[in-house]
Formats: sequence, C-alpha cells, structure tokens
Amino acid sequence: MVVWSPFRFNCGREMANRFAIAPLTTDSSHEDGTAADEELEFVRRRAANGFGAAISSATYVEDDGRSWQGTGAAHDGHLQSLQRLAGAMRAAGSLAILQIYDGGRIAKPELIGEQRMRAPSAVASLRPGARTPRAMTPDEVERLIASFRRAASLARKAGFDGVEVHGANHYAVHQFFSPRANHRDDHWGGTPARRMNFPLAVAAAVRDALGPNLIAGFRVTPFEAEADGYTLADASLLCNELAGLNLDYISISLDDFRKSRPQRETRVYDGPVEPDVIPAKSPITEFARVIAGRCAVMASGGIRTCADAGEAIGMGADLVAIGRAVVVDPEWLSKVRSKREASILPGLPGDKSGIAGTLSIPPRMVDYMLSRPGWIPRL
Ligand SMILES: Cc1cc2nc3c(=O)[nH]c(=O)nc-3n(C[C@H](O)[C@H](O)[C@H](O)COP(=O)(O)O)c2cc1C
Repeated sequence: MVVWSPFRFNCGREMANRFAIAPLTTDSSHEDGTAADEELEFVRRRAANGFGAAISSATYVEDDGRSWQGTGAAHDGHLQSLQRLAGAMRAAGSLAILQIYDGGRIAKPELIGEQRMRAPSAVASLRPGARTPRAMTPDEVERLIASFRRAASLARKAGFDGVEVHGANHYAVHQFFSPRANHRDDHWGGTPARRMNFPLAVAAAVRDALGPNLIAGFRVTPFEAEADGYTLADASLLCNELAGLNLDYISISLDDFRKSRPQRETRVYDGPVEPDVIPAKSPITEFARVIAGRCAVMASGGIRTCADAGEAIGMGADLVAIGRAVVVDPEWLSKVRSKREASILPGLPGDKSGIAGTLSIPPRMVDYMLSRPGWIPRL
C-alpha cells in the first residue's frame, strides 16, 4: 500500500513511510522556553513506532509572540534544548521537523503582558476575552521575518531535518493573510496580493536559512469559516506562490479531512454544534491540483485508520499527519501497521489521574486538552 512506501522530498531527504506525527502543543515547556523531559518523552514514545517524520509542537520565534508555555527558538540560549528535542524526535529514525510560529493577536497576555501584544493590525480576535493588540510598525514586521529566519538557522544548527512554518490556525502568519485580521495599507496589506507578502517572505527566509538540503514546509488553513474571511480560491493563489519558492511540502490544516472543516478562530469546543462547513471542492484535491507536483501535499484532520490515510492520499495528498489519534494511543502506528486497529485506544480514560503516567502525556497537556470538552475523545 502506498501509505507504507517511502517518500523523497525535493531537498532529497526521505521519509520511510507516509505518516507524520502532527504538530501537537504540550503547553509543558520550562518558563524560559527550553523543552521539559516529559514533553521529550511524549514525542519519543510516539515516534518510536516508526513514523516517517515527527513534527514538533509550535515553537515561538519571539518572546512577545508566545500563545502558551512552549518551546522557543528565539535566541542562542535555546540551541541546546532544540538539540535535545531533535534527538528525541528522531530516536527511532523519524525525520525531525521543527514547527515555528508567532502568536500575533492570539499571543497570551498573561505570558507576555497585555501592552506587548502586537499583530498586523489593531483588531481583536473573535476568541472570547480577546484583547486588542497594537499594529506592528514596518520595522517590527521586518524584524519578525528575521526572527523566523533566525529560528530556522537555529533548527539547522540543532540538527533538525527541516522546519515547518506555522501559517495556519489563526496565528500571526495566518493573520497577515486574513482580511479579517490584516487592515494594513502598506506593503503588508491592503490587497489580496499584498496580504500574501508576509507569508511568502517568511517562507523564502526559512528556505534561505535552511539551504537546499533541508526540508522546508508550510502549514496553511485552506479557508476561513468566519464571515468576510479568505476563501479557498484566495488560499489556492497563496499555495501557487508558495509552491514556486522551492518548498518541500504544504500541509493543510483541517479538523476533518473529509468534511473539510477548518479550525474556527473562536475554538468553542463545548458550545452548540456548528454546522459543518463543506466547500464545493476538497481543499486537499484543489491544492494538489494547484501545486501540481512542485512540492508534496500533507493532509490532516480526523485520520484514525489506515483506510482513512489511504483515502486522504486518494484525494491528492502525498503524506498524512496524525494528531489526536496518537495523543490518545501512543502505539497507534504500530497497531495500524500490524493490522491490530481493533485494539487502538479510542479516547482518553474517563479518570484523569492515570493519564499522564500510562500514556506519557505531560500533566499540563492533559489539563490543557481537557479544559476544552469535546476536543479530545474520552472513554
Ligand atoms: C493538543 C493539540 C495540540 C495541537 N498543537 C498544534 C500545534 O502546535 N501546531 C499546529 O499546527 N497544530 C496543532 N494542533 C492541530 C493538529 O496538528 C491537527 O491538525 C488537528 O488536531 C487535526 O488532526 P487530528 O484529527 O489528527 O488531531 C494541535 C492539536 C491538538 C489536539
């Protein structure tokens, strides 16, 4: 089956199979942005099943862009922690990819101080309790691009096989592309083409910092479910430009790969059930058409079985990223590979007390996930 066949990226690096561990925030790093032992164990145990690649939790590139207590790639003091992270991720032969992000208007004020929140424009997010950030100056925009570049250089020095720019899920790179979040009228906003300038500049800077032999990926939300958001057609134009930058893959962030449901900015998990958003075209199929083999397409969202992975590949993906299924069952890939899918754990145990120890999930990550009922399946 194609899911078990190797995949060679443009840069020459090869995944042993088509499965990647999706980026999964643990909210469990030390306050200075260095990785905690328990989060290294979280990824080490899961990668040990033989994933072709493991993608790290989103790692901040500037202190002022932190949305949770995660790992940093913001200065040389983070290098050793990044080396440990790369080592844990590739312990069993997986490629190790560092995802890098900035929170922009959804940075966490409790972590950085409300007055330090900066974003493309002074427009608050729709999230409950969101604060209004200040608009970044042109110098700050340039500095943020340089910070993404520096983070990619640190990843290279730390021994990662590549870097994924987090351009999805309403963080800063996504905000620059969004007409809801970006009301600028300079080089970085105003028209759809100018709203692409920041994502493209970050992708180009990362490619440049990595050199030609490491994997450069970019994660994108394929359309915004909110009124007045960008559309699938807008995002296809962005993908077309990204694919011209010699990237290795574009990853499509969805909550459900079949229903094509993107993550809403409000992220209300326990509120009334929102109607499924089903665009006329599958973003996976549409992006594969636009990208036309210039780089790989990675799909994600609700992939729980080998058949699901095969279906996503049939829709046009080359690779699949697995999130909640490997959170809930660290041995998920081994069970899929040995055709023991019936024994896959379907949800986190109802009694929270043993979860951290038996499943190697950092306790803070357990609390973070359970604070949003309906996000992670429970037994
Ligand atoms: C606990 C948790 C943390 C996540 N953290 C990140 C992250 O750091 N970066 C990111 O791009 N996506 C993140 N996601 C989204 C997942 O990568 C994935 O796209 C999403 O959960 C849908 O796929 P799944 O159904 O396989 O989980 C996170 C998801 C979960 C459940």
